[in-house]
Amino acid sequence: MQTTIVTVAVAVACLVGTASAGIVFDRACPTGIEAKQYFSVESYLGKWYEIQRYESEFELNFDCVQVRYTDNEDESVEVSNSAYNLFNGSTINVVGRAVLSFPDEEILQGKLNVSFFGAPNDVSNYWVLDTDYETFSVVWNCQPLGNTQSEENFWVLSRTPTLPADTDVMFRIHNIMRRYIDRSQVRFTRQLDERSSSSGKDGVRERSP
Ligand SMILES: *[C@@H]1O[C@H](CO)[C@@H](O)[C@H](O)[C@H]1NC(C)=O
Ligand SMILES: *[C@@H]1O[C@H](CO)[C@@H](O)[C@H](O)[C@H]1NC(C)=O
Repeated sequence: MQTTIVTVAVAVACLVGTASAGIVFDRACPTGIEAKQYFSVESYLGKWYEIQRYESEFELNFDCVQVRYTDNEDESVEVSNSAYNLFNGSTINVVGRAVLSFPDEEILQGKLNVSFFGAPNDVSNYWVLDTDYETFSVVWNCQPLGNTQSEENFWVLSRTPTLPADTDVMFRIHNIMRRYIDRSQVRFTRQLDERSSSSGKDGVRERSP
């Protein structure tokens, strides 16, 4: 029983950026990083495929990660994550809740508080740094670990199992990664394996990590 709980908790952390899985850096959280301005929750709803993420030892081997955001009736968003383990065939599905971190701001920023298992939404842990809502989203989060370390999560999401080769999209993603992301820690998520439900839709070859 204990093992099951731990496994699920680890999986959740892998998918959503709670403060327990990510890359640990020997530095404080960077400051001055801006989230998307004039953020529209409504346009952000729907299904996203994970394309890249910061890897951590806890989430090794999870691929085919998909996230679905749906409107709840109370201004919050239901978060439904699923992932498939290509090595041992296990699937995980986790449901949580997200709210805008600062809903009263004059200019809404793409910052959300995401939580699972009914935990309070009291950490701003999902920052959309850039998105066009229709193609891609770049999400990042940093939580301090004491004064000299921090733990970061990072995801590139796409509306389709692979990102389209659109120059503007590539430029916008690259622009953020160049400034804020340690590329040596980034892992590509396989979305096109035939065992995953999303596979094979567009015939694009799988990218290697
Ligand atoms: C598959 O591997 C994952 C991560 O390595 C582990 O958490 C999970 O328990 C494994 N599932 C099975 C059915 O072995
Ligand atoms: C989100 O979390 C931040 C702390 O990181 C808190 O200040 C803010 O009030 C929270 N937002 C909501 C709507 O609970």
